[in-house]
Amino acid sequence: MTTPRDARTSPAPVLELRDIRKSFGANTVLKGVDLTLRPGRITALLGANGAGKSTLIKALSGVHQPTGGDILLDGAPVQLENPMAASRLGVRTVHQRIDDAIIPGLSVAENLVFEQIALGETPSVASPKSLLPRARKVAAALALDWDDAFLRQDVFELGIADCQMLLLARALVTDPKVLILDEPTSTLSQSEAERLFETILELRDRGVAILHVSHRLAEIDQLADDIVVLRDGRITAAQERPFDFAAAVTSMLGEGAERDIEQLVHLTGEQVALEIDGLRVFPEAPEMSVALRSGEVTGVIGLIGAGKTELAEYVFGESTATGTGTMKLGGKAYAPRHPKHAIARGVFLVPEDRAAQGMLPGWSIARTFSLPFLSRFARGAILQQGSETTRAAQAIADFGVVSTGPGQSVDALSGGNQQKVMVARWMQTPPEVLLLDEPFRGVDIGARREIAKRAREQAADGSCVVMLCSDVDELREIADRVLVLVEGRITLDARIDTVSDDEIVQSMTEVA
Ligand SMILES: Nc1ncnc2c1ncn2[C@@H]1O[C@H](COP(=O)(O)OP(=O)(O)OP(=O)(O)O)[C@@H](O)[C@H]1O
Ligand SMILES: [Mg+2]
Repeated sequence: MTTPRDARTSPAPVLELRDIRKSFGANTVLKGVDLTLRPGRITALLGANGAGKSTLIKALSGVHQPTGGDILLDGAPVQLENPMAASRLGVRTVHQRIDDAIIPGLSVAENLVFEQIALGETPSVASPKSLLPRARKVAAALALDWDDAFLRQDVFELGIADCQMLLLARALVTDPKVLILDEPTSTLSQSEAERLFETILELRDRGVAILHVSHRLAEIDQLADDIVVLRDGRITAAQERPFDFAAAVTSMLGEGAERDIEQLVHLTGEQVALEIDGLRVFPEAPEMSVALRSGEVTGVIGLIGAGKTELAEYVFGESTATGTGTMKLGGKAYAPRHPKHAIARGVFLVPEDRAAQGMLPGWSIARTFSLPFLSRFARGAILQQGSETTRAAQAIADFGVVSTGPGQSVDALSGGNQQKVMVARWMQTPPEVLLLDEPFRGVDIGARREIAKRAREQAADGSCVVMLCSDVDELREIADRVLVLVEGRITLDARIDTVSDDEIVQSMTEVA
């Protein structure tokens, strides 16, 4: 548990930002940011998607050069020409986009000690084998149970949660003075996040100044000593404990945004939409049979590795590897061998790894929006009329996508705004079955409510909505029925209002 710390008795600032500005062409993103980080304190940085959090972090980690303002380290002005310069001064950052930081073609161990190689502290000719002892030490310090086989494998083999842990471990290879984490938990399950929190708190106690970006208030409450809110390129609020989150959310999103989440009026679907029979999500898993109904939201919850993504991909025609099961959609045989077959039948999937699956660099928001429906096969799935641009403009307004308009390239959007585009894309037309894999990941509180509301509206209109997640709070915001998945087995199937959080969590860790 965090013990609140009093700023007045805290030591001198380690990092100070004064009037930091940053523009991209005519787009001024940071409009004069002042921020102070002190040793042994965790500062949480809050802000809506597109507020400028990642841009600020890039400016203070040497990725971007600020257009104006000063950065002071231990009281002295510094120029952070590049990320290496920042690293050398003890400012370590784990950026939001993990795929930029992972070096493909190298092993896990090489990726771990990559910066030492780049800084010349470890010879670049060092054999992967000679890096192992060092990599082992780093992994052990973070309590990662990574064996040598794991350390030797190509990073390409890793899932996103492991990539995230790898980058964290990399940031801790040398003792940082300042540690900056840009949404580190958005790809982690609860247990992995807890492990990360332990590490963060330990580092804090050792005197590291930490800047932590997150959209999860519970997590901020657990960790932070201070919170600051960035809105439209300016700090609009700063608080010490005890935090007033309602006020923080208001300064983040504006008046009226802090309204409580409405009590869900639960739906009960009558009709079976999708029947899955005798499916093994993993070769060694037992056969699973389940009927998913239209007119309600089913939440499938499980830890990472439970088989949620595999289940979703199977339904969406992306994997036939397990191949044992049969399905019926609306009472008729359904055996998609490709996502286009699924889309043609009105079965949509918002994937977990959205950036990697389905965003083409350089494409406009409008094009990205229509992408899955461009094939002749899938075109029938668009029931709504209206041009690509009109539909995109509507979604931009509904979901609050911060952009210059439907023509803007998706690359220039902030992480959360990219997520909104990818989720909104599959909500533009009423589906038979809508699978949402971790739909709240990376989106701000405003968008989270909008996504939940839309999903529930679609269910009320007769769609079968299935949300896959690993967080009980998220599940409660959206689901009518809960299915708990453990290693490809359903360990609990209940109306959500009949089970407690404890019962759900317990069945998530039930062993066979
Ligand atoms: N390289 C770039 N070129 C042009 N515009 C950019 C660039 N990087 C960021 N922006 C713009 O800066 C604004 C802020 O983006 P940023 O990524 O800092 O937001 P964020 O607060 O981190 O949001 P999120 O919560 O979604 O991660 C966005 O409107 C984005 O379009
Ligand atoms: Mg960001």
